[in-house]
Amino acid sequence: MSAQLIDGKAIAQKVKDDVAAAVAARVAAGKSKPGLATVLVGERVDSATYVRMKQKACADLGMESFHHPLPSDSTQEEVENLVRELNADPTVNGILVQLPLPDHLDEEKVLQAIDITKDVDGFHPINIGRLAQKGREPLFVPCTPFGCIHLLKESGVKIEGANAVVLGRSNIVGMPAALLLVRENATVTVVHSRTQNIPEVVRRADIVIAAIGKMEFVRGDWVKPGAAIIDVGINSKPDATRKRGYRLVGDVNFDEVKEVAGYITPVPGGVGPMTIAMLMKNTLRAAEIQDQ
Ligand code: GUN
Repeated sequence: MSAQLIDGKAIAQKVKDDVAAAVAARVAAGKSKPGLATVLVGERVDSATYVRMKQKACADLGMESFHHPLPSDSTQEEVENLVRELNADPTVNGILVQLPLPDHLDEEKVLQAIDITKDVDGFHPINIGRLAQKGREPLFVPCTPFGCIHLLKESGVKIEGANAVVLGRSNIVGMPAALLLVRENATVTVVHSRTQNIPEVVRRADIVIAAIGKMEFVRGDWVKPGAAIIDVGINSKPDATRKRGYRLVGDVNFDEVKEVAGYITPVPGGVGPMTIAMLMKNTLRAAEIQDQ
């Protein structure tokens, strides 16, 4: 293995330790505990797991969490009314509506209903719009892309002037990751399903953020020697040697790419822990913004 492993678990723990210390200092100064409201519509098992992990992180860091499960057949009005109640609740500093929502709901309208000072996911159109514009500052940056940039910086990877390739253009990861890299002065290419000759595009990259949802998609011979590889993918690969019958792999063929890259994140233990750490950081920031 030639690549340096980027330890997302350790880097996330450091972020969470800093947040916990700031929360303790706030409370000691007589200020409120930051509070995060989670909204889960329906019974998706993966979403329920992610929300549970977010609630646990709040408890671990001395913050409050308020969970609001809604049935899968909730109406648009019911979901938006809940968001408006949370907007008005002073004990709630951050509002997280777990995505994806059931198909009958209008995601954009739900996200638009969130008070932008409580938009800890950074998905409100005003926050995303500010992220996309020069000279504007979003109040919050989406947690997974924020975590990817933090991993690069903590590993000493130079972003300014680098050729960066983002694989995937989702609203949650790919697009905001590309916008953040532009703000960090990288030269950015976004690869998607209609991109021609993807291996050749990836070969030019000093930094790759892979969030395309295809198991082990990025191959060793696509990677520029020394490149930094951030793997956002989480895919279940059948594995008879494991008790549960599968193991988690990313969107990067780790065994091949680790021999060529300069830096690489593992799956699990790379980007995954960063999403929650950055959500906690955003929730603390929300409380600080609302203090003022
Ligand atoms: N679904 C997958 N990732 C995320 C995320 O970061 N935030 C929310 N709200 N939903 C998600």
